[in-house]
Amino acid sequence: MGLGKLGTALTAREILGLVSGDLEKMEVELRSASVGNIEAVSGIAHHLQGNGGKRLRPILLLIACRLYQEPSPDAIRLAAIVELIHTATLLHDDVIDNALIRRGQPAANVVWGNQRSVLAGDWLYMQAFQLTLRLRNFEILDLLISLTQQMVDGELLQLGWIGKLDVTEADSMELIDRKTASLFSACTRLGSIIGGASDAEQIRLGDFGWNLGMAFQLVDDILDFTSRESVLGKPVGNDLGEGKVTLPLIYALAEATPTERKLVERVLADSSYEHVPFSEIRRLVDRYKGVERARERAREFTQKARSLLAGVPASPARKALFAATDLVTGRDS
Ligand code: IPE
Ligand code: IPE
Ligand code: MG
Ligand code: MG
Repeated sequence: MGLGKLGTALTAREILGLVSGDLEKMEVELRSASVGNIEAVSGIAHHLQGNGGKRLRPILLLIACRLYQEPSPDAIRLAAIVELIHTATLLHDDVIDNALIRRGQPAANVVWGNQRSVLAGDWLYMQAFQLTLRLRNFEILDLLISLTQQMVDGELLQLGWIGKLDVTEADSMELIDRKTASLFSACTRLGSIIGGASDAEQIRLGDFGWNLGMAFQLVDDILDFTSRESVLGKPVGNDLGEGKVTLPLIYALAEATPTERKLVERVLADSSYEHVPFSEIRRLVDRYKGVERARERAREFTQKARSLLAGVPASPARKALFAATDLVTGRDS
Protein backbone atom coordinates (compact mmCIF):
# COMPACT_ATOMS: atom_id res chain seq x y z
CA MET A 1 0.00 0.00 0.00
CA GLY A 2 3.04 2.24 0.19
CA LEU A 3 2.17 3.55 3.61
CA GLY A 4 5.76 3.34 4.75
CA LYS A 5 6.99 2.65 8.22
CA LEU A 6 4.28 4.51 10.03
CA GLY A 7 1.71 2.32 8.35
CA THR A 8 3.20 -0.83 9.77
CA ALA A 9 3.87 0.70 13.18
CA LEU A 10 0.31 1.89 13.33
CA THR A 11 -1.61 -1.13 14.29
CA ALA A 12 -3.07 1.81 16.23
CA ARG A 13 -6.28 1.27 14.33
CA GLU A 14 -7.59 4.70 15.30
CA ILE A 15 -5.33 6.33 12.77
CA LEU A 16 -4.77 3.96 9.95
CA GLY A 17 -8.29 2.61 9.76
CA LEU A 18 -9.45 6.14 9.32
CA VAL A 19 -7.21 7.30 6.50
CA SER A 20 -5.85 4.20 4.77
CA GLY A 21 -8.17 4.61 1.78
CA ASP A 22 -7.30 8.32 1.53
CA LEU A 23 -3.60 7.48 1.73
CA GLU A 24 -3.80 5.01 -1.11
CA LYS A 25 -5.28 7.75 -3.28
CA MET A 26 -2.65 10.17 -2.03
CA GLU A 27 0.10 7.73 -3.07
CA VAL A 28 -1.33 7.56 -6.61
CA GLU A 29 -1.37 11.37 -6.79
CA LEU A 30 2.15 11.56 -5.35
CA ARG A 31 3.53 9.08 -7.85
CA SER A 32 1.99 10.78 -10.86
CA ALA A 33 3.08 14.21 -9.59
CA SER A 34 6.67 12.98 -9.34
CA VAL A 35 7.18 12.20 -13.01
CA GLY A 36 9.30 14.73 -14.88
CA ASN A 37 10.54 14.89 -18.46
CA ILE A 38 14.11 14.27 -17.39
CA GLU A 39 14.97 10.92 -15.89
CA ALA A 40 16.90 12.35 -12.92
CA VAL A 41 13.80 14.05 -11.50
CA SER A 42 11.57 10.98 -11.65
CA GLY A 43 14.42 8.70 -10.60
CA ILE A 44 15.30 10.76 -7.55
CA ALA A 45 11.70 11.32 -6.48
CA HIS A 46 10.82 7.66 -6.83
CA HIS A 47 14.01 6.57 -5.07
CA LEU A 48 13.07 8.64 -2.05
CA GLN A 49 9.34 7.98 -2.06
CA GLY A 50 9.73 4.29 -2.83
CA ASN A 51 12.00 3.83 0.18
CA GLY A 52 9.22 4.37 2.65
CA GLY A 53 8.89 7.37 4.85
CA LYS A 54 6.19 7.61 7.45
CA ARG A 55 3.87 9.86 5.41
CA LEU A 56 3.13 11.61 8.66
CA ARG A 57 2.41 15.01 7.12
CA PRO A 58 -0.28 13.81 4.69
CA ILE A 59 -1.73 11.63 7.43
CA LEU A 60 -2.11 14.63 9.73
CA LEU A 61 -3.65 16.74 6.98
CA LEU A 62 -6.16 14.03 6.10
CA ILE A 63 -7.18 13.38 9.69
CA ALA A 64 -7.56 17.12 10.34
CA CYS A 65 -9.82 17.27 7.28
CA ARG A 66 -11.81 14.29 8.53
CA LEU A 67 -12.68 16.18 11.69
CA TYR A 68 -15.06 18.09 9.42
CA GLN A 69 -15.74 16.01 6.34
CA GLU A 70 -14.53 13.18 4.15
CA PRO A 71 -11.50 14.34 2.12
CA SER A 72 -12.44 15.61 -1.35
CA PRO A 73 -10.15 15.07 -4.37
CA ASP A 74 -8.69 18.52 -3.59
CA ALA A 75 -7.91 17.42 -0.03
CA ILE A 76 -6.16 14.29 -1.33
CA ARG A 77 -4.19 16.49 -3.71
CA LEU A 78 -3.22 18.78 -0.86
CA ALA A 79 -2.00 15.78 1.13
CA ALA A 80 0.25 14.82 -1.82
CA ILE A 81 1.42 18.44 -2.06
CA VAL A 82 2.68 18.55 1.53
CA GLU A 83 4.54 15.26 1.02
CA LEU A 84 6.08 16.71 -2.17
CA ILE A 85 7.27 19.73 -0.22
CA HIS A 86 8.63 17.45 2.49
CA THR A 87 10.45 15.36 -0.15
CA ALA A 88 12.00 18.47 -1.71
CA THR A 89 13.11 19.66 1.72
CA LEU A 90 14.74 16.31 2.49
CA LEU A 91 16.62 16.36 -0.82
CA HIS A 92 18.01 19.81 -0.09
CA ASP A 93 18.64 18.98 3.57
CA ASP A 94 20.70 15.93 2.66
CA VAL A 95 22.83 17.97 0.29
CA ILE A 96 23.35 20.64 2.95
CA ASP A 97 24.13 18.03 5.62
CA ASN A 98 26.27 15.84 3.34
CA ALA A 99 24.04 12.95 4.40
CA LEU A 100 24.93 9.43 3.31
CA ILE A 101 21.79 7.54 4.26
CA ARG A 102 18.12 8.44 4.09
CA ARG A 103 15.22 6.09 4.74
CA GLY A 104 17.64 3.19 5.10
CA GLN A 105 19.08 3.65 1.60
CA PRO A 106 21.91 5.68 0.11
CA ALA A 107 20.77 9.32 0.08
CA ALA A 108 19.92 10.76 -3.36
CA ASN A 109 22.98 13.04 -3.23
CA VAL A 110 25.15 9.94 -2.90
CA VAL A 111 23.53 8.21 -5.88
CA TRP A 112 22.92 11.19 -8.21
CA GLY A 113 25.28 13.81 -6.79
CA ASN A 114 24.58 17.19 -5.20
CA GLN A 115 23.78 19.08 -8.38
CA ARG A 116 21.02 16.77 -9.55
CA SER A 117 19.58 16.45 -6.05
CA VAL A 118 19.28 20.23 -5.67
CA LEU A 119 17.64 20.56 -9.07
CA ALA A 120 15.25 17.69 -8.40
CA GLY A 121 14.31 19.40 -5.12
CA ASP A 122 13.65 22.67 -6.97
CA TRP A 123 11.53 20.82 -9.49
CA LEU A 124 9.46 19.15 -6.77
CA TYR A 125 8.84 22.46 -5.00
CA MET A 126 7.59 23.96 -8.23
CA GLN A 127 5.47 20.91 -8.93
CA ALA A 128 3.92 21.30 -5.48
CA PHE A 129 3.03 24.93 -6.17
CA GLN A 130 1.71 24.15 -9.63
CA LEU A 131 -0.59 21.50 -8.18
CA THR A 132 -1.65 23.99 -5.51
CA LEU A 133 -2.59 26.51 -8.20
CA ARG A 134 -5.13 24.02 -9.52
CA LEU A 135 -7.02 24.41 -6.26
CA ARG A 136 -7.66 28.07 -7.16
CA ASN A 137 -7.34 29.03 -3.53
CA PHE A 138 -4.98 31.94 -2.82
CA GLU A 139 -5.16 31.51 0.95
CA ILE A 140 -3.76 28.00 0.60
CA LEU A 141 -1.13 29.06 -1.94
CA ASP A 142 -0.05 31.92 0.29
CA LEU A 143 0.21 29.61 3.28
CA LEU A 144 2.33 27.06 1.41
CA ILE A 145 4.68 29.67 -0.04
CA SER A 146 5.23 31.35 3.36
CA LEU A 147 5.74 27.95 4.91
CA THR A 148 8.38 26.96 2.38
CA GLN A 149 10.21 30.24 2.92
CA GLN A 150 10.10 29.64 6.66
CA MET A 151 11.63 26.20 6.25
CA VAL A 152 14.40 27.65 4.11
CA ASP A 153 14.94 30.33 6.79
CA GLY A 154 15.28 27.48 9.29
CA GLU A 155 17.96 25.77 7.23
CA LEU A 156 19.78 29.10 6.80
CA LEU A 157 19.62 29.74 10.53
CA GLN A 158 20.96 26.27 11.17
CA LEU A 159 23.83 26.82 8.75
CA GLY A 160 24.85 29.86 10.78
CA TRP A 161 25.14 27.70 13.88
CA ILE A 162 27.02 24.80 12.36
CA GLY A 163 30.13 23.95 14.36
CA LYS A 164 29.16 26.26 17.25
CA LEU A 165 29.22 24.99 20.80
CA ASP A 166 27.31 27.85 22.41
CA VAL A 167 23.88 27.24 20.88
CA THR A 168 21.18 28.01 23.44
CA GLU A 169 17.92 26.30 24.22
CA ALA A 170 16.11 29.33 22.75
CA ASP A 171 18.17 29.10 19.53
CA SER A 172 17.31 25.45 19.25
CA MET A 173 13.59 26.08 19.74
CA GLU A 174 13.60 28.86 17.16
CA LEU A 175 15.20 26.54 14.68
CA ILE A 176 12.76 23.71 15.31
CA ASP A 177 9.87 26.11 14.99
CA ARG A 178 10.95 27.03 11.48
CA LYS A 179 12.40 23.89 10.03
CA THR A 180 9.83 21.38 11.31
CA ALA A 181 6.92 22.72 13.37
CA SER A 182 5.93 25.16 10.62
CA LEU A 183 5.19 22.30 8.21
CA PHE A 184 3.30 20.26 10.79
CA SER A 185 1.25 23.32 11.64
CA ALA A 186 0.52 23.96 7.98
CA CYS A 187 -0.62 20.35 7.51
CA THR A 188 -3.21 20.35 10.27
CA ARG A 189 -4.30 23.86 9.42
CA LEU A 190 -4.68 23.05 5.72
CA GLY A 191 -6.62 19.91 6.57
CA SER A 192 -9.04 21.97 8.62
CA ILE A 193 -9.32 24.67 5.92
CA ILE A 194 -10.09 22.19 3.17
CA GLY A 195 -12.48 20.40 5.52
CA GLY A 196 -14.44 23.62 6.03
CA ALA A 197 -13.53 24.52 9.62
CA SER A 198 -14.25 27.95 11.08
CA ASP A 199 -11.42 30.49 11.40
CA ALA A 200 -11.08 29.77 15.12
CA GLU A 201 -10.92 26.03 14.49
CA GLN A 202 -8.29 26.51 11.79
CA ILE A 203 -6.12 28.40 14.24
CA ARG A 204 -6.61 25.75 16.92
CA LEU A 205 -5.71 22.93 14.53
CA GLY A 206 -2.68 24.89 13.31
CA ASP A 207 -1.53 25.30 16.92
CA PHE A 208 -2.08 21.60 17.53
CA GLY A 209 0.16 20.73 14.54
CA TRP A 210 2.78 23.24 15.62
CA ASN A 211 3.08 21.72 19.09
CA LEU A 212 3.15 18.23 17.64
CA GLY A 213 5.88 19.30 15.20
CA MET A 214 7.99 20.78 18.00
CA ALA A 215 7.72 17.48 19.88
CA PHE A 216 8.44 15.53 16.71
CA GLN A 217 11.72 17.32 16.00
CA LEU A 218 12.80 17.10 19.65
CA VAL A 219 12.23 13.36 19.46
CA ASP A 220 14.20 13.27 16.19
CA ASP A 221 17.07 15.00 17.99
CA ILE A 222 16.77 12.55 20.91
CA LEU A 223 16.70 9.51 18.62
CA ASP A 224 19.92 10.74 17.09
CA PHE A 225 21.48 9.87 20.48
CA THR A 226 19.47 6.85 21.53
CA SER A 227 18.45 4.86 18.45
CA ARG A 228 20.23 2.55 16.02
CA GLU A 229 20.77 3.11 12.33
CA SER A 230 18.93 -0.10 11.44
CA VAL A 231 15.81 1.20 13.17
CA LEU A 232 16.15 4.88 12.35
CA GLY A 233 17.06 4.57 8.67
CA LYS A 234 19.77 7.20 9.14
CA PRO A 235 23.00 7.12 11.16
CA VAL A 236 23.00 7.93 14.88
CA GLY A 237 25.31 10.53 16.35
CA ASN A 238 24.89 12.24 13.05
CA ASP A 239 23.81 15.67 14.28
CA LEU A 240 26.99 16.44 16.20
CA GLY A 241 29.07 14.84 13.45
CA GLU A 242 27.37 17.33 11.08
CA GLY A 243 28.23 20.19 13.46
CA LYS A 244 24.77 20.47 15.05
CA VAL A 245 24.44 20.88 18.80
CA THR A 246 20.89 19.83 19.67
CA LEU A 247 18.86 20.04 22.86
CA PRO A 248 20.02 16.89 24.73
CA LEU A 249 23.60 18.07 24.30
CA ILE A 250 22.76 21.71 25.04
CA TYR A 251 21.41 20.61 28.43
CA ALA A 252 24.49 18.49 29.13
CA LEU A 253 26.90 21.22 28.06
CA ALA A 254 25.30 23.68 30.45
CA GLU A 255 26.61 21.56 33.32
CA ALA A 256 29.66 19.93 31.77
CA THR A 257 33.21 20.47 33.03
CA PRO A 258 35.74 22.28 30.79
CA THR A 259 37.33 18.90 29.95
CA GLU A 260 33.97 17.49 28.91
CA ARG A 261 33.25 20.55 26.78
CA LYS A 262 36.58 19.99 25.07
CA LEU A 263 35.40 16.55 23.93
CA VAL A 264 32.46 18.11 22.15
CA GLU A 265 34.67 20.84 20.71
CA ARG A 266 36.93 18.18 19.30
CA VAL A 267 34.11 16.40 17.46
CA LEU A 268 32.96 19.75 16.08
CA ALA A 269 36.48 20.62 14.96
CA ASP A 270 36.97 17.21 13.31
CA SER A 271 33.40 17.04 11.92
CA SER A 272 33.67 13.37 12.86
CA TYR A 273 34.16 10.92 15.71
CA GLU A 274 37.71 10.18 14.63
CA HIS A 275 39.33 11.27 17.89
CA VAL A 276 36.42 11.24 20.31
CA PRO A 277 34.06 8.27 19.86
CA PHE A 278 30.31 8.81 19.86
CA SER A 279 30.05 6.55 22.94
CA GLU A 280 31.91 9.20 24.97
CA ILE A 281 29.53 11.91 23.87
CA ARG A 282 26.61 9.63 24.62
CA ARG A 283 27.98 9.05 28.14
CA LEU A 284 28.37 12.78 28.64
CA VAL A 285 24.77 13.40 27.61
CA ASP A 286 23.60 10.59 29.90
CA ARG A 287 25.61 11.91 32.85
CA TYR A 288 23.67 15.18 32.82
CA LYS A 289 20.33 13.62 31.88
CA GLY A 290 20.26 15.49 28.58
CA VAL A 291 17.93 12.99 26.92
CA GLU A 292 15.48 12.86 29.84
CA ARG A 293 15.32 16.62 29.99
CA ALA A 294 14.77 16.97 26.25
CA ARG A 295 12.12 14.25 26.46
CA GLU A 296 10.39 16.25 29.15
CA ARG A 297 10.26 19.25 26.81
CA ALA A 298 8.84 17.04 24.05
CA ARG A 299 6.19 15.81 26.48
CA GLU A 300 5.23 19.37 27.33
CA PHE A 301 4.60 20.09 23.66
CA THR A 302 2.50 16.96 23.19
CA GLN A 303 0.54 17.79 26.34
CA LYS A 304 -0.17 21.23 24.93
CA ALA A 305 -1.20 19.65 21.62
CA ARG A 306 -3.58 17.34 23.45
CA SER A 307 -5.10 20.15 25.46
CA LEU A 308 -5.84 22.01 22.22
CA LEU A 309 -7.78 18.99 21.01
CA ALA A 310 -10.03 19.21 24.01
CA GLY A 311 -11.76 22.12 22.24
CA VAL A 312 -12.57 20.01 19.16
CA PRO A 313 -15.83 18.01 19.08
CA ALA A 314 -15.30 14.33 19.90
CA SER A 315 -15.10 12.08 16.81
CA PRO A 316 -13.03 9.18 15.45
CA ALA A 317 -10.77 11.76 13.76
CA ARG A 318 -10.12 13.52 17.06
CA LYS A 319 -9.27 10.17 18.62
CA ALA A 320 -6.83 9.56 15.79
CA LEU A 321 -5.14 12.90 16.40
CA PHE A 322 -4.77 11.99 20.07
CA ALA A 323 -3.21 8.69 19.02
CA ALA A 324 -0.83 10.59 16.74
CA THR A 325 0.51 12.54 19.73
CA ASP A 326 1.35 9.25 21.48
CA LEU A 327 2.96 7.99 18.37
CA VAL A 328 5.21 10.99 18.00
CA THR A 329 6.63 10.81 21.50
CA GLY A 330 6.73 7.01 21.61
CA ARG A 331 8.23 6.47 18.17
CA ASP A 332 11.57 4.82 17.55
CA SER A 333 12.05 5.79 13.91
C1 IPE B 1 12.52 13.84 8.73
O1 IPE B 1 11.14 13.69 8.85
C2 IPE B 1 12.87 15.28 8.87
C3 IPE B 1 12.55 15.83 10.20
C4 IPE B 1 11.74 16.81 10.36
C5 IPE B 1 13.20 15.25 11.36
P1 IPE B 1 10.45 12.28 9.01
O2 IPE B 1 11.06 11.53 10.15
O3 IPE B 1 8.97 12.45 9.01
O4 IPE B 1 10.91 11.57 7.67
P2 IPE B 1 10.20 10.42 6.83
O5 IPE B 1 9.32 11.13 5.85
O6 IPE B 1 9.43 9.50 7.73
O7 IPE B 1 11.36 9.74 6.16
C1 IPE C 1 15.12 18.36 9.74
O1 IPE C 1 16.39 18.49 10.18
C2 IPE C 1 15.21 18.79 8.36
C3 IPE C 1 14.06 19.24 7.70
C4 IPE C 1 13.08 19.91 8.14
C5 IPE C 1 14.18 18.89 6.30
P1 IPE C 1 17.41 17.31 10.27
O2 IPE C 1 18.63 17.63 9.46
O3 IPE C 1 17.60 16.99 11.72
O4 IPE C 1 16.65 16.11 9.58
P2 IPE C 1 17.28 14.70 9.39
O5 IPE C 1 17.79 14.27 10.73
O6 IPE C 1 18.36 14.90 8.38
O7 IPE C 1 16.14 13.85 8.91
MG1 MG D 1 19.63 16.45 7.95
MG1 MG E 1 17.87 14.99 12.59
